[in-house]
Amino acid sequence: MAPDGPPAAGRPSSAPPHAGAAHGTGRGLLQRLDKGRVAHVVAVGSGKGGVGKSSITALLAVELRRRGLAVGILDADITGPSIPKLLGMTGPLVDRGEGIEPATSRTGISVVSSQFMVEDEQTPVIWRGPLVTRLITQFFGGVNWGALDYLLIDMPPGTSDVPLTVFQTVPIDGMVFVLTPQDLAALIVTKAMNMARDLHVPLLGLVDNMSWLECPHCHEKVELFGKSRVDRIGKEYGIPVIGQLPVVPAISELADAGRLEDHHAPELARFADAFTKAVDEVTKSSVRVL
Ligand SMILES: Nc1ncnc2c1ncn2[C@@H]1O[C@H](COP(=O)(O)OP(=O)(O)OP(=O)(O)O)[C@@H](O)[C@H]1O
Ligand SMILES: [Mg+2]
Repeated sequence: MAPDGPPAAGRPSSAPPHAGAAHGTGRGLLQRLDKGRVAHVVAVGSGKGGVGKSSITALLAVELRRRGLAVGILDADITGPSIPKLLGMTGPLVDRGEGIEPATSRTGISVVSSQFMVEDEQTPVIWRGPLVTRLITQFFGGVNWGALDYLLIDMPPGTSDVPLTVFQTVPIDGMVFVLTPQDLAALIVTKAMNMARDLHVPLLGLVDNMSWLECPHCHEKVELFGKSRVDRIGKEYGIPVIGQLPVVPAISELADAGRLEDHHAPELARFADAFTKAVDEVTKSSVRVL
């Protein structure tokens, strides 16, 4: 974990009053759960909806799994879960009295999602905030994740209850931020980054999704959504750009068919390399806050 320290200078903290109050840990009064046999816990978020958080989380898990690593995904988007759909998985989750068993994807990725708790894809999860946040805690502490190299957390959009609960109760090593080249996505991702920083969560890196489209005829790179701001934001926050992915129609098609595990791309392999390096660096250089 990052060593303790005050929120970034020169900018008022937007963290709620109780955050950071207990023992100067920056973690608030909530008890943080034990990591168990999970080596690295990394959240993937953005602030803005629809930029590809879930797709990036799933694709990263797929690529890490291809390398023979033990990988899990905690789908923290309780009211809008999408990981089961992307990986073609159905529930239900099973609890044989010793904790919840995660479901396993075709290639062996362990997944826990609220989607497995409802009858079908059309049934909504309609829960009030306190129940949603309690479920997040259960999805980490009440699940038999076993020995994992990486547990990825697919965050919902926004900077409210769920991210706050994840930051304060789940022992995350860091967070990856996904953005797209549009102005609005760039603006909102900085809100999410500021929130994580205020709560002392290490910022691992940025992923520029839907960065360009390759023309199928002349193979020229077309900047469909304008010039990317990822380098500027990375510099401003002092964090690396760990992935740049183009718009690939196959991603949408495979996602719709629940077959994202069939997607292969050189950008994905480079992203996974940079991701593991960033995680190693942050965990090596950090001091665990107990
Ligand atoms: N690189 C890409 N190329 C093509 N389509 C993509 C790419 N990344 C994401 N998509 C598509 O964009 C849509 C939104 O992606 P996704 O659901 O992963 O976003 P999200 O940020 O998790 O959304 P939400 O905020 O609703 O959770 C999906 O239809 C997905 O298939
Ligand atoms: Mg999502």
